[in-house]
Amino acid sequence: MKKAITTKHIAQLAGVSVGTVSHVLNGSAGVSEELQKRVHEIVRKLDYQPSQLARGLRRRSTDLLGVIIPDITNPYFPKLVRGIEDVAYKEGFRLVLCNTDNDPAKELSYFNDLRSFHPAGIIVIPSEGSTVGKDSSHRNFELMFVDRSPEWWAGDAVLANNEDGGHQVGRYLTRMGHKLISAISGPSHIETARDRMRGFQRALAEAKVKLPAKFIQEAPFNVEGGFAAAIRLLTMTPRPMAIFASSDTLAIGALAAVRALKLRCPEDVSIVGFDDLEFSELTEPSLTTVFQPGYHIGSLACQLLLDRVRGADHPTEKKILNTELRIRHSVRSLLPARKRSR
Ligand code: ADE
Repeated sequence: MKKAITTKHIAQLAGVSVGTVSHVLNGSAGVSEELQKRVHEIVRKLDYQPSQLARGLRRRSTDLLGVIIPDITNPYFPKLVRGIEDVAYKEGFRLVLCNTDNDPAKELSYFNDLRSFHPAGIIVIPSEGSTVGKDSSHRNFELMFVDRSPEWWAGDAVLANNEDGGHQVGRYLTRMGHKLISAISGPSHIETARDRMRGFQRALAEAKVKLPAKFIQEAPFNVEGGFAAAIRLLTMTPRPMAIFASSDTLAIGALAAVRALKLRCPEDVSIVGFDDLEFSELTEPSLTTVFQPGYHIGSLACQLLLDRVRGADHPTEKKILNTELRIRHSVRSLLPARKRSR
């Protein structure tokens, strides 16, 4: 391993003490201009990089933020991380990103690794069964949950209103005259998937539309999961005429299944997604979906966390951001023509 240049080397070459070098590097007053110039010249020549680790050990905290997410290949999460990163970068903090695959043991192992770097804070999208933050292991840094919040967590969190998003979908489909409605839920062990389904089922119950158990198919939040679940639904008798896919990746898989079965969307099957990813407007037909503010969740969470890092000690906050149905072209109205124009 290469040996790192330290302030000791610089001090030796400049013929001053390590303390004087630190004063120069920290911009403290009381060092002559000539000495400052000499030290800076050596720093430049040696390409000296201050060690965040050594600094972290001294201050007991670095300018690092840990970010723990389930899966960077799920296109919803990069939006959220981008929101975190934009705020962190602007405020002089840097991120270390970890994937858990929704595995609480992997999550805890990353959490403990991150703690050893003395981060200023850690932002976590927790897996079901998460134990991070359950004890006092976060006493030396700020901890924030986003997207999901374990029910025992009493600290800060920023979430989307998933239940209301699901409710908006159910209300829209029933108001469009649909009765044979089905759903591809995400994994039932994920809180956001459960919340979306709860709102959706409530809307159907309010409209007195039945949702048979076999019309709810669980699938992992990805395109393959959506494809397989939609094939199962669309080969049932009777065949559902609408599918609520509880993420846009699931909806895109469902659109592919519709094509594979030589059906048409929305003529034979209506599809609604959840997310409003950039590419959801570009599908054929364009996808009606629920917008969830992933970027804003990330940026707000990071802002709140950095406020805490700087000493804000207001009561803990659980922010729940609005979701919004975006109507495009993947849902067919089954209302009689005279009702549609009202
Ligand atoms: N896709 C969209 N929203 C999601 C969420 N909250 N968790 C996992 N995958 C998602």
